[in-house]
Amino acid sequence: MSENPRNKTLRDKKAQAQLGGGAERIKAQHQRGKMTARERIELLLDKGSFREIDAFIQHRTHDFGLDKQRFPSDSVVTGWGTIEGRLVYVFSQDFTVFGGSLGEVHSEKVVKIMEMALKNGAPLIGMNDSGGARIQEGVVSLGGYADIFLRNTLASGVIPQISAIMGPCAGGAVYSPALTDFIFMVRNSSYMFVTGPDVVKAVTHEEVSQEELGGASVHSEKSGVCHVAADSEADTLYLIRKLMSYIPQNNMEDPPYVPNDDDPLRIEESLDTIIPDDPGKPYDIKDVIRLIIDNGDFFEIHENYAMNVVVGFARLGGHSIGIIANQPAVLAGVLDIDASEKAARFIRFCDSFNIPIVTFEDVPGFLPGTIQEHGGIIRSGAKLLYAYCEATVPKLTVITRKAYGGAYCVMSSKHIRGDVNLAWPTAEIAVMGPDGAVNIIFRKELDKAEDPVARKAELVADYREKFANPYVAAERGYVDDVIEPKETRSRLINALEMLQNKRDSNPAKKHGNIPL
Ligand code: HXC
Repeated sequence: MSENPRNKTLRDKKAQAQLGGGAERIKAQHQRGKMTARERIELLLDKGSFREIDAFIQHRTHDFGLDKQRFPSDSVVTGWGTIEGRLVYVFSQDFTVFGGSLGEVHSEKVVKIMEMALKNGAPLIGMNDSGGARIQEGVVSLGGYADIFLRNTLASGVIPQISAIMGPCAGGAVYSPALTDFIFMVRNSSYMFVTGPDVVKAVTHEEVSQEELGGASVHSEKSGVCHVAADSEADTLYLIRKLMSYIPQNNMEDPPYVPNDDDPLRIEESLDTIIPDDPGKPYDIKDVIRLIIDNGDFFEIHENYAMNVVVGFARLGGHSIGIIANQPAVLAGVLDIDASEKAARFIRFCDSFNIPIVTFEDVPGFLPGTIQEHGGIIRSGAKLLYAYCEATVPKLTVITRKAYGGAYCVMSSKHIRGDVNLAWPTAEIAVMGPDGAVNIIFRKELDKAEDPVARKAELVADYREKFANPYVAAERGYVDDVIEPKETRSRLINALEMLQNKRDSNPAKKHGNIPL
């Protein structure tokens, strides 16, 4: 039977859409070391799973000779597919068509796929590579951005939203990724800023390159805008696939349960000696985390930002968890503005998406000083407190060493609905460290002492003996149990399973007023 010629017409039209802005521009994109929008989608999704929609869409603009430049699909590719068999919706901006710029139909395509993702309860992944608002379309482009911002906000906390920045993302365009849950950036080929180097120079006379102003390093180390920076586009897409394995499809589902061969009852003897005898000595909390979680596999978020707190995803007995841990190896694990905000945002993601929170606590308190006080540590610390207080997912806490002062209350204490709070024998739960405490309560005595140094050493030892331990708190039920470090893994897995049907809620309200 001969082929229906209409099928051939259809195939030709679809083939033309696949070419985006044409072979020359695809070549230029590759020469920049970048993949095309469709190549990125192919690498992100399970092989052959992508279903594109709106490939026939074309812009409707006549100004500036645009009517003579029409590309089917316009400057964004949209559709759905799967990652490890689970549905996701995607959009991928096509830099080969008008520099990926966003005009009327581009925004209509993105809004359509966002609404499908929201209605059908599956994650949305956006790959951004765009010159911003399509200059020829003027205010229509701005309206298109605002339409997207609204959907980002409405979808927040309902479906996970992930952004990959794989080229320029400037001006107001940054606010769509900024409203999503996680921003991934590619080192040396992506950047984000509200105003570019030229405007910066005109206004502040600063000379700065695009990379210095808003590259992946800056945003993953200084501003914290970027959650994960990767060395290549392929690495970025691989890491997004990996992140997906820890998170549910939407806020009504539990995260995936992935059984593995790591024994839930594994005893980890080395934990018994991991805390240095000298309480002033640091150790790396990531060593502790890796020894406890399934197969030592830790997916860290914000790895190089506010490193005095560590956050990320892992599994315990196959159950997905979010970890928040003070890091004694950086600034003694003190909480400052950036660390508080980093941890608070991560907790809120976990709570939105039913991911239990495991806190490892070794915190000497909040960072003192004018920089922190004038920068609003009160407000930032309150964000962390608020995030822990409002979270209703299972909350497990392990106090490995210091739990001092306000930071004791904040770090998922029993008083703010910690479900299972455990302490190691090395825990020191008190209002402050022995040194500071003795300085205050024995000031007069020390002033008069014949040998103040020796007397202070005595008093510090006495205070440490009496208060710098877990038993005063345990006597009151402020910790549920004091455990041997080597059994932490099995105790946490047991607690997670015990809490599997946990039901808790907050008073009905429109929404709370987190101290932003
Ligand atoms: C229309 C655009 C465009 C835009 C790039 N192109 N940006 N077309 N609107 N915003 C087109 C170019 O004309 C060119 O078309 C192709 O995309 C590739 O651009 P090049 O300049 O050749 O590429 P490159 O040298 O890599 O530079 C990329 C760039 C630069 C840095 C993004 O194009 C640039 O500065 N563009 C303008 C950025 C900008 O000011 N956008 C508006 C920001 S304001 P041909 O036909 O040659 O392939 C904004 C407000 C958003 O976005 C507000 C939201 C609330």
